Amino acid sequence: MLRVGVIGLGAIGREHLDIYRNLPGVQLTAVADARFPGSDEFGVPSFGSTDALLGSGLVDAVSLCTPDDIHYQDSLSILEAGVHLLLEKPVSTSAEEAENLVKAAESSGLTVMPGHTLRFEPKYLTAHRLVESGHIGDVVHGYVRRNNKTSVADRVKGRTSVTFFLGIHDIDAVTWVAGRRVTAVQAMETTQRTSDGGQAVAVTANLRLDNGGIIQLEAAWGLPDDFPTDIDARLRLVADRGELSIDIHEQGMRAFGDTLGYPVPVAASMYGKTQGALHEELDAFVRAVRGEIPLPITMREGADAVHVATAIDKAIRTGSVEEVTYR
Ligand SMILES: NC(=O)c1ccc[n+]([C@@H]2O[C@H](COP(=O)([O-])OP(=O)(O)OC[C@H]3O[C@@H](n4cnc5c(N)ncnc54)[C@H](O)[C@@H]3O)[C@@H](O)[C@H]2O)c1
Repeated sequence: MLRVGVIGLGAIGREHLDIYRNLPGVQLTAVADARFPGSDEFGVPSFGSTDALLGSGLVDAVSLCTPDDIHYQDSLSILEAGVHLLLEKPVSTSAEEAENLVKAAESSGLTVMPGHTLRFEPKYLTAHRLVESGHIGDVVHGYVRRNNKTSVADRVKGRTSVTFFLGIHDIDAVTWVAGRRVTAVQAMETTQRTSDGGQAVAVTANLRLDNGGIIQLEAAWGLPDDFPTDIDARLRLVADRGELSIDIHEQGMRAFGDTLGYPVPVAASMYGKTQGALHEELDAFVRAVRGEIPLPITMREGADAVHVATAIDKAIRTGSVEEVTYR
């Protein structure tokens, strides 16, 4: 039995919790959240901080699901304690911290995986394989988009930019699918701000790829809360011998009725067991800890996405084309 814990029991941490409870060979043994020290809500010991959880000696591996801007110190403490780490995206909101985390992960000998969930979404994995196997040729141009609701921005309370919270998914996905690195960016953000005033509602950026291709990125959390789908995401690539596109808008299913929410969730439990991309991500992490599969995504890749996001947010401030510095 691998003893796992979850740190940060907010929106995504609670999903990690449900999934670990259902994974074979895994025992959820502890949780931590600054809001729930000593709580008996979770059926396992609940601590008020990462250090308290680590001090208990109850875990072999953890998911760190705290806000983007405080991943760094806790990640270092987790690795120092010899505990395997699934680190929610983005690995950090600072390029320097991301590089330090790569070094700490590589020297730890532990399994350390950034939680870039699109890597575990079958459509994106298929797109990656189609490009990798040469079916559509070399990517020339395309776009990625991720629109979410205003309530998501409200939850984040200005602590991280929409580039880091949402855009990072697509920065990682499009570079992985295209098999290309981003060398330079230009970007703009809206003057309209999130409700707390802390962040722009939307960011658009142009990404220059290392083969000369270009990608347009749109990251936004401005959809009204009653917009009839949870997330509106697209990826489209035109290559020199073909084209591919992914549309995560309707989730491939539509149902209307005066007693139905919309969309009908397609990642619901399957006969009592969790399923979906996040389930696949955690399952892959656990199998990598056990040495059954190679690590599906490395901290180096997680840090590379941070470097692109950092360049985008810098380009917004300078109004110039910014080169992406990788290390
Ligand atoms: N992979 C995905 O699809 C996905 C989706 C949503 C969020 N995320 C990522 O997951 C992380 C959490 O996001 P969220 O939306 O669940 O946030 P959230 O605000 O809903 O939850 C964060 C939780 O962390 C707790 N917390 C804050 N500081 C803490 C501390 N010092 N120690 C312990 N607990 C602390 C808060 O009390 C809260 O319960 C972020 O990095 C986010 O980018 C990933």
